[in-house]
Amino acid sequence: MAGRRFHLGWFTYFGQNAWNEPLGSAPDPWDGALHLDLARAMERACFDYMLIEDTLSVPFAFRHSTETYLKHGIMVPKHDPVPLTAILGHATRHLGLVTTLSTMAYPPFMLARLVSTLDHLTAGRFGWNIVTTAENAAAQNMGLAEIPPRHLRYDMADEYVALVRQLLGSWEPDAVVRDVARGVYADASKVHPVDFEGRWYRSKGPLNTVPSPQGRPAFIQAGGSPRGRRFAASHADSVIAATTGTAGMKAYRDDIRRLAAEAGRDPDEIKVLSLVAPVVAETRAEAWEQYERALSSPDYAERALALFSSFTEVDFSRFALDEPLPPLTTNAEQGALDKFCQTRPGEPPSPKTLRQLLRDSGTTGALELVGTPDDVADMMEAAMAEVGGDGFLLTTPFHRLTRVYIASITDGLVPALQRRGLTRTAYGAATLRETLREF
Ligand SMILES: Cc1cc2nc3c(=O)[nH]c(=O)nc-3n(C[C@H](O)[C@H](O)[C@H](O)COP(=O)(O)O)c2cc1C
Repeated sequence: MAGRRFHLGWFTYFGQNAWNEPLGSAPDPWDGALHLDLARAMERACFDYMLIEDTLSVPFAFRHSTETYLKHGIMVPKHDPVPLTAILGHATRHLGLVTTLSTMAYPPFMLARLVSTLDHLTAGRFGWNIVTTAENAAAQNMGLAEIPPRHLRYDMADEYVALVRQLLGSWEPDAVVRDVARGVYADASKVHPVDFEGRWYRSKGPLNTVPSPQGRPAFIQAGGSPRGRRFAASHADSVIAATTGTAGMKAYRDDIRRLAAEAGRDPDEIKVLSLVAPVVAETRAEAWEQYERALSSPDYAERALALFSSFTEVDFSRFALDEPLPPLTTNAEQGALDKFCQTRPGEPPSPKTLRQLLRDSGTTGALELVGTPDDVADMMEAAMAEVGGDGFLLTTPFHRLTRVYIASITDGLVPALQRRGLTRTAYGAATLRETLREF
């Protein structure tokens, strides 16, 4: 349905970004100032949420070495997103703040305590991006020999999330009475142990935090494989998708909605946002020039291949640039691999060469959103009308965040969307879950 409003998120990471770009040479981002500027700009543009990614290793997949990653500053260095989220929460009033926390990294009790605390610090605007972690190097940093197979990771994560939900619910919402006359802070009859005994996790409970504004913070998830999608559809308030083309966006969203209904959920409770990386400039020619310049930079292929190797644990240095890829599968991020290779497991590989696939992946490959703010707003409107909802997760093309880019989106593209009545012009709800369900 054309003209229907849609949601906007922004995918970023607390890491090294555009350090060697002419318009990105501001000081390193480690004091949080770049992300504070991003958060304020996003709030001005009425985005639903900022999502900060996280991984837990110095990648090693490309050429079986850390060298390319360290040389270019790809996926490393990066800092812990949790303290950043806390300071962003104090600098904003409406924007949702989503942090990635891995089920492999935290005991469930510690995670429940952390997300409850963050929901307080953000006044009910916190979301947990639930990841199971797909890199062996991260597993080894946690003392494991390697990551478990994908099905097991998600089976374990189902149990993990069930326990986290129980811990978050271990205090009844009105357990804190603060009755000065009776001398009672919390009513012990409303705080319950959980006595959880699962296959992989155990916890006695109750949690030792006060129930948070959302009770349960919003859950965000990005499962791409069939098992991952089932997990996302069972738990998430918003699902983020890396897909190819409008048809891919629609197929993914339809699948999530079908799986949600199968899990007994109302599909309208889930907002599926597709990853896109618009390039916006004053003129169409300028936007295309920016796009081509980035793609033709001499180290683009190496940087992009190293990045895809880190998500997929496939060493892309093994393949010739001007030949098609063989069929590939992985125990790491299968969704990312399928998308990059423009295929699905079991289907014949794409006839495109690796160089062509690299080119397509520059703006994430979902849609080629290059042009003036009005051009790109028209393209987003047309895509959403075809897909049926629910919105977009924006990210920087070529993985380079600069303040100039932020302004091109929040003060160029978004006003063009707002003029068309496509995105909100004011926040209407207090918590992130309510913001997501506003329309
Ligand atoms: C937009 C987006 C953001 C993601 N962010 C992270 C992240 O921060 N950390 C992480 O370990 N995985 C992240 N992932 C990976 C997903 O959690 C998931 O593993 C991936 O989409 C592949 O799906 P699968 O696990 O079902 O194969 C992200 C995926 C997407 C599409």
